[in-house]
Amino acid sequence: MTIDPLPPDLQRTHGCGELRPAHANSRAVVMGWVARRRDFGSLNFIDLRDRTGLLQVVFNAEKFPKVHLKAQELRSECVVAVEGEIVHRDPETFNPALATGEVEMVANQLYILNDSRTPPFPIEDNVPTSEEVRLRYRYLDLRRPRMQANLRLRHRVTLEIRQFLSAQGFLEMETPFLTRSTPEGARDYLVPSRVQPGSFYALPQSPQLFKQLLMMGGLEKYFQIVRCFRDEDLRADRQPEFTQVDIEMSFVHPENVMELTETLMERAFGAAGVRIERPFPRLTYEEAIRQYGTDKPDLRLPPLHSAGQLFSAEDRQSLGINPEAPLVAFRVPGCGNLSRKERDGLREFAEERGVKLFDDLGRLESKLPAPVKALREQAGAAPEDLLLLVAGPAGSESGSPSDSNPAPRGNPPFQPLELAVYSAAGALRLHAGQKYAQNHGMLRPEDYRFLWVTDFPMFEYDEQEKRFTATHHPFTSPHEESLGKLESDPSAVKAKSYDLVLNGQEIGGGSIRTHRPDVQRRVFRVLGFSEQQAHARFGFFLNALEYGTPPHGGIALGLDRIIMLLAKENSIREVIPFPKTARAIDLMCEAPSPVSPAQLDELGLEQKKDLS
Ligand code: AMO
Repeated sequence: MTIDPLPPDLQRTHGCGELRPAHANSRAVVMGWVARRRDFGSLNFIDLRDRTGLLQVVFNAEKFPKVHLKAQELRSECVVAVEGEIVHRDPETFNPALATGEVEMVANQLYILNDSRTPPFPIEDNVPTSEEVRLRYRYLDLRRPRMQANLRLRHRVTLEIRQFLSAQGFLEMETPFLTRSTPEGARDYLVPSRVQPGSFYALPQSPQLFKQLLMMGGLEKYFQIVRCFRDEDLRADRQPEFTQVDIEMSFVHPENVMELTETLMERAFGAAGVRIERPFPRLTYEEAIRQYGTDKPDLRLPPLHSAGQLFSAEDRQSLGINPEAPLVAFRVPGCGNLSRKERDGLREFAEERGVKLFDDLGRLESKLPAPVKALREQAGAAPEDLLLLVAGPAGSESGSPSDSNPAPRGNPPFQPLELAVYSAAGALRLHAGQKYAQNHGMLRPEDYRFLWVTDFPMFEYDEQEKRFTATHHPFTSPHEESLGKLESDPSAVKAKSYDLVLNGQEIGGGSIRTHRPDVQRRVFRVLGFSEQQAHARFGFFLNALEYGTPPHGGIALGLDRIIMLLAKENSIREVIPFPKTARAIDLMCEAPSPVSPAQLDELGLEQKKDLS
């Protein structure tokens, strides 16, 4: 194949996907990749793809024999420039699947700008390809319309966020990537220093301290669309490097930050063509746990109902359930006729989480007709719904948080058994909803249900370390009315914090910060830091607090998660151009990778021999 240069005077006139019947009988020059070629002897067709879409190009042996001959050489993913005339297609050959399906180009010039090896997978949507192969050849995967649409959406939404915040008087500012570690609860990525052998920078888990220092520096309104780095266990909604829309404001109440965030969401979703309902409902952390069994409720499913008051002590005894534990019921809409096997699966799910599930309330009703009838009424269960009742098993230790039933953050307001039942019921509600109720019109991705969860416990007790840790981060302000309990009863201290939740995903978190140095010192003491330890780690910050720090607060939104939900994807990897796998590997460039002994030596580092 002879490769042509791109002729200096040849300009692209249209994107492939832009051509319409109105362009008929005019000249056009398009450039892109050959998506497919079909050979009908004297007529050769290609679908030409660029980022605007596909256009059918015809090579006609009778009209332009040389060009037709040259087109015979084309194969998938060759890069070409084609000049020709846009013509109407015969109505019987219209392709309604294509935006350009009523026209085609009759080519009179063809420039082959590059050849391509056969790609490892077809560059089309809906062709099942393993994610591993997609990520290894991400540059090819990115040519697929779905990825292109996701990244375009990401750009649109990001631009709108930037424009909105700028119009509100926020200044976009960069903060260091090579810094000291900021405590957000995950492990740091460390960067060894060559010029200070033995010392390390940490990549920021978030710009938390810097944005607060900007408030101390009198900037008043800051934002940054910023990469954060966390070395934590990865899941579909987590990446080791991810993007936050990071915001901080001086002289504000929680209300101001929440109001700003709601408007920001309205604008960002608007840029994606989605209208959202405001104001967002609010639940305190405690209410969220009692009503949904989680601190990030998905409001698209019916809530939990407390059924404790409906069953007497004798009732509970006859059912063999723990009299101390909460009794929680919920309905799974439209799923009343699950099979025996499906119900067994739900019961197993509950057992693994240390709770007892009653999945057949019909049977229970014959034993305890009055409470079950009342329960059906309370939960508003229709005959076609499945009504589930979750209880703590009698006299067992099993209803404690465990690996399969991890406690939500900030457990102090709840007893372990209480929390275990609520969180198991919450997990079961979601599991049953995702597995079965989705077929009955629940959990539709285009149904966007926002929610604020506020007033988290300031501290949670870490049983392993035998000390309190900060539920959000140590710079969150306690509520003024709970300041008196800081030392005497840390579990009872509530934080001025707020999480933004959308369809069961935490898409943002923030708080009013501690601006008084005396309070910050007390918080560090509760966290088990001596004065010296606190100064060794955060001395610069604690010093800065002493010089007239204004009251301030802010929020950080998880941009990748927001775009994922807007794009109706199940993983943030689908909205990040070059993501890492669940094992934090970049398959395309094979990072991380070993480095040469010389590089290590330069950094004053030595590799341990047995790295298994
Ligand atoms: P937080 O740790 O809650 O708060 O982070 C804010 C938001 O960032 C998103 N997020 C992630 N997204 C993808 N991958 C990850 N590994 C990941 N971790 C977090 C979530 C989360 O809600 N400094 C505070 C904010 C503040 O107080 O202003 C902070 O970073 O959507």
